[in-house]
Amino acid sequence: MRTQMPLFVALLGVALLGASGVIGPQRAAAEPVRWVRSAAPRQVARPVFRAGGEPAPFQPRVSPGRLSDPEMRSFAELVATEGKAQPLAGFAILGIQHLLGSTGGLMRGLAASGAAISQMLFIGKRYSQHAGVAGELSGDGFRTYLSRHEGSIDTGADWGHRVTGDPGARLRELRAQVDDLVRRTPTGKIVVIDDGGELIELIHREYAHLHDRVVAVEQTRRGIRRLEKLDLKFAVIDVAQSWAKLHYESPMIGRSIAATTLARVRWVRGLGAPTGRRALLLGYGAVGKATARALHAAGFDVEVFDTSRDAQRTAGQDPSVARTHHALDDALTSGARIVLSLTGTTTLGERELELLHDGAMLINGASSSDEIVDRSASFMQPLQGFKMHGGAPYARWGEGAESRTGMRASWILKTRSGKAHLLVNRGEVINFDGSPDPIPPRYIQLTRGLLYLGALQAARTTKAGIHSLDEVAQRAWVERVERELAATGESLVDPTF
Ligand SMILES: NC(=O)c1ccc[n+]([C@@H]2O[C@H](COP(=O)([O-])OP(=O)(O)OC[C@H]3O[C@@H](n4cnc5c(N)ncnc54)[C@H](O)[C@@H]3O)[C@@H](O)[C@H]2O)c1
Repeated sequence: MRTQMPLFVALLGVALLGASGVIGPQRAAAEPVRWVRSAAPRQVARPVFRAGGEPAPFQPRVSPGRLSDPEMRSFAELVATEGKAQPLAGFAILGIQHLLGSTGGLMRGLAASGAAISQMLFIGKRYSQHAGVAGELSGDGFRTYLSRHEGSIDTGADWGHRVTGDPGARLRELRAQVDDLVRRTPTGKIVVIDDGGELIELIHREYAHLHDRVVAVEQTRRGIRRLEKLDLKFAVIDVAQSWAKLHYESPMIGRSIAATTLARVRWVRGLGAPTGRRALLLGYGAVGKATARALHAAGFDVEVFDTSRDAQRTAGQDPSVARTHHALDDALTSGARIVLSLTGTTTLGERELELLHDGAMLINGASSSDEIVDRSASFMQPLQGFKMHGGAPYARWGEGAESRTGMRASWILKTRSGKAHLLVNRGEVINFDGSPDPIPPRYIQLTRGLLYLGALQAARTTKAGIHSLDEVAQRAWVERVERELAATGESLVDPTF
């Protein structure tokens, strides 16, 4: 039997191999990071589940056809009916979105419904923007912008060479894009399609002269919570809390988080480091529940901690959950080495990282890159007590691992007491793995369709404030997608991709 070694030792070994040039291409330390290096379709390693047992080996697949125009049959039908009367004629579109293939489909659907291609700008999210998709869209005349910053996190943190919080960087970047769109579209209405409330809040606070020209759509609950605090002067359609999104999107998210988690666990096990089969989930909301179910189906023993008593109670009755913790410290000291954070808040600090079992794998299944640790916190600074190892050997190790397996690089976090945890995917969301559509377009078209319906509703709404997404339209849309999936024995409720 193979001797198991601590994670840190295993990773250090690989790091040194990387440093000696044995593994993968190497990158000069100062070179800027582009996590997608080529516009060409790339091979993506995906795990395949087997009910209850060990996962089957990776099955590399190649994305067929054009990246930015994937087949989304139901969505095409929706656009054919709803877009026929050109409801978006005269509207410019400004969006922040994951820039994925299916987002290209959404942009094309908006254009087919009357919006001018040249007056449509989609800004990516730093961890989920695919350069190949963006390149194709530009080639077709659409405008896209690949973000360099994310919220308060300065991307100087990439590869751990430097961590500098620059909260202003993202704002400056967004202002420049809004200004650019306004220059090109000096008059006429604008539909903003937002993710996280960033653009809507910016326009609310700094672009009063646009308030009578703007209507908007918000996709995330985090964004809606942010917007509820504002006295909005324009209409916002709430897709985030739509019945269809809450009930039908989570299973596919859970599935993709579990699949990408499994890929990383197998990789760490392959290095000879122990991971165990226990997965601790911090957060048991819509995404947490679905992830618990998918990880359980993949053979993990799932443990849960949620700050909400109600969520703890529900978890206690969930057959997918082996153990529910009622205090964070109990959860962290329970010995689970695989830890997923699925809350929408930053869950761990220096003290919490010390409580974890040495060699824990820390996985972000939520939406912001500081879900697990605040990357601009002082304890993240290199050369202080709590170190983030991201120097050359580790960066090269990450690069080598990334190019060999299709995975993105990870960081090692070393605590004062010497524990070494793996911040998987550099703390960025696990299921955005660099592929053009981490969730198959026939499934994720559900979300793109809801955003499309939100945009159409926004275009005909004049009353300021937050409005629910039309209930009848949601139901008809879910039925349409379910009909398409049923033809191949699939369902949104129990995804099998
Ligand atoms: N990875 C993806 O593809 C993907 C897709 C959709 C949403 N998300 C993100 O996943 C996150 C969760 O979404 P959701 O819809 O489940 O939200 P939710 O509000 O339904 O659930 C969040 C849960 O976390 C709990 N929580 C909050 N702070 C906590 C803490 N410090 N420790 C433990 N539990 C805590 C809450 O009580 C709640 O039960 C959000 O950030 C969301 O944007 C990710």
